[in-house]
Amino acid sequence: MTEIPRQILITSALPYANGPIHLGHLVEYIQTDIWARFQRARGHNAIYVCADDAHGTPIMLKARAEGITPEELIARVRTEHEADFADFLVGFDHYHSTHSEENRACATRIYTSLKAGGHIAVRTIEQAYDPEAGMFLPDRFIKGACPKCGAADQYGDSCEVCGATYSPIDLVDPVSAISGARPVARESEHYFFQLADFEPFLREWTGSGRLQNAIRNKLNEWFEAGLADWDISRDAPYFGFQIPDAPGKFFYVWLDAPIGYMASFMAHAEQHGLDFDAWWGAGSETEMYHFIGKDIAYFHTLFWPAMLHGAGFRTPTAVFCHGFLTVNGQKMSKSRGTFIRARDYLDHLNPEALRYYFAAKLGSGVDDIDLSLDDFVQRVNSDLVGKLVNIASRCAGFLTKRFEGALADTLPRPDLHRQFVDAGDVIAEHYEGREYSQAVRHVMALADQANQYIDEARPWVLIKDPERGAEVQGICSQGLDLFRILVIYLAPVLPRLAERAGSFLNRADLSWAAREEPLTGGTIRPYEALMTRIEPAAVEALLEASKASLAPTKAAAETGTPAAGAPGGKAPAPSAEGAGATPTAAALEPIAETIDYDTFAKVDLRVARIVTAEHVEGADRLLRLALDLGGEQRQVFAGIRSAYRPEDLAGRLTVMVANLAPRKMRFGVSEGMVLAAGPGGGDIFLLTPDEGAQPGMRVK
Ligand code: MSP
Ligand code: ZN
Repeated sequence: MTEIPRQILITSALPYANGPIHLGHLVEYIQTDIWARFQRARGHNAIYVCADDAHGTPIMLKARAEGITPEELIARVRTEHEADFADFLVGFDHYHSTHSEENRACATRIYTSLKAGGHIAVRTIEQAYDPEAGMFLPDRFIKGACPKCGAADQYGDSCEVCGATYSPIDLVDPVSAISGARPVARESEHYFFQLADFEPFLREWTGSGRLQNAIRNKLNEWFEAGLADWDISRDAPYFGFQIPDAPGKFFYVWLDAPIGYMASFMAHAEQHGLDFDAWWGAGSETEMYHFIGKDIAYFHTLFWPAMLHGAGFRTPTAVFCHGFLTVNGQKMSKSRGTFIRARDYLDHLNPEALRYYFAAKLGSGVDDIDLSLDDFVQRVNSDLVGKLVNIASRCAGFLTKRFEGALADTLPRPDLHRQFVDAGDVIAEHYEGREYSQAVRHVMALADQANQYIDEARPWVLIKDPERGAEVQGICSQGLDLFRILVIYLAPVLPRLAERAGSFLNRADLSWAAREEPLTGGTIRPYEALMTRIEPAAVEALLEASKASLAPTKAAAETGTPAAGAPGGKAPAPSAEGAGATPTAAALEPIAETIDYDTFAKVDLRVARIVTAEHVEGADRLLRLALDLGGEQRQVFAGIRSAYRPEDLAGRLTVMVANLAPRKMRFGVSEGMVLAAGPGGGDIFLLTPDEGAQPGMRVK
């Protein structure tokens, strides 16, 4: 390769230190790891860092609930996370923690610069305070009855039943989810980062090819809504870093979280004698890429570049967002066993199978990706076992048995070797552009071709003719040469298989450039299975194990909520205070008093088709649905946003109350109600009639 080696810093988002790694997370870490490995195979200097995101209220409370210190909790979780990543072959160059001296130093430095630049404001705000627990309550930790419709047990910011939004202070009979006490309003001084100071810079930065189109469009909406000040402080008690010269005030977890990238790199740089400023200084000529989920785009495309720029550091070269993982076409679900922890998967299945499957599905966009378990089994078995590994097992036997493992000195079809080598350019372009599915498609087409070559050459027939031994040796050497090239192409995805193939072929160099050198001359070692079939029973066992391991816990930080990021200065709620952090267990709801048949008959329930579903600006829990009642269209606001993505709802049938009096809401008129079950949050289940039902049919 003649290319000059690039200096590339690569990151994945930092997982929260209060919950286990699950398959949703792994979409991101596997996607990033493939890219980092690819860059290294191409001869570039790619440094891949990550860390645990260790601060915030949910972590503090979880530790408290377990009767341990936050430090103990995050140490334990970090060990688990690192083991999960290692076993999934995610090869970080450094894994750190945001609760570290490097991060404290970096966060302090950035904050101090922003303050000196006049970008930090201090204001007194009023907030709900739990007098019993002695702490301010994030909205998510307050529950009460909705001030509009009276529905019980609603969160502090909006009602899941009628969709009203309000301040927690307006809740009827509010209680703290921590102590059960009634919260009181209390004033406190907060520190704000004035994001709007950076609007011109951000418009420039976000518009210069660093972001995917979908994300840029989202940003334009955010610009339009106005860049509000960002509240970066939290009052004690809080698990985080004290703000310098502000006793009792801590940096909000999301302030020091992205700085964790810098801290992790700093620790790596110290260990390896790298020049920190050459990578992070304003004039740095190195490249820097963040891989993240689309739910945290706001933090990475606005706050983070503004913070870096404002504090005199370089900004990211690009931010790469990916979509969310669904399993069998639906959000990961604990009750179906599809909320799969990394560890449970590892106990039952081969990590490279998942790496391959994700690669075969991943593109450069923000679309969600589906793990269809039947398709997974079929695809891995047919591609990796049936096609790829098959090439090696077909050829190796003859060479080992008849030629003591010796390879031919020349290949019978140098043109085929050349063709496979040349294909590497296009495949590399696909990897570079994160179009892994295209790369994999190309490789598998080549695998078909290699198998076809062997089929047509028929070594198993020729071997019977003692005169034609040399020919067989040539064919098998050719087959293994093609196999080796394909292994190099898949090595970023299948590093362990590649390494084992390398030792079987006595060719340890698996770099992209090494593909050029034909596999001739030396000897091979006896073949051992490089990959075995996935048995569907193993998948069944995994689902059962997932149900079992998740049943007793209400573990925190298990979010699958892909809110695309709330507009305005407000951070997307689920990730903001740490997801799934609501500590109250759902109590069994009493059955309501009986009604007579006539009363029931007055309720006009209809089958409706969801024509469109969309987010409602300023309403975290609502979706605006356009419903088709078989000719008639209705607009309904439904409090189901925490459980559904709009794009998954369009086209789907459901059941609605069609004769509910229209209600005027802040966002428009709601003309009915859709029916759903479940306690709320991620567990909302929209009712769906059996197939065949038509929009407009009466439900009786
Ligand atoms: N701690 C923050 C990130 C801070 S980065 C400075 C956070 N943590 S997380 O554990 O909730 O998520 C870590 C990453 O995994 C995020 O990029 C998130 O989008 C991604 N995913 C979490 N669940 C996911 C799916 N179900 N599917 C795909 N990606 C998912 O956010
Ligand atoms: Zn309500």
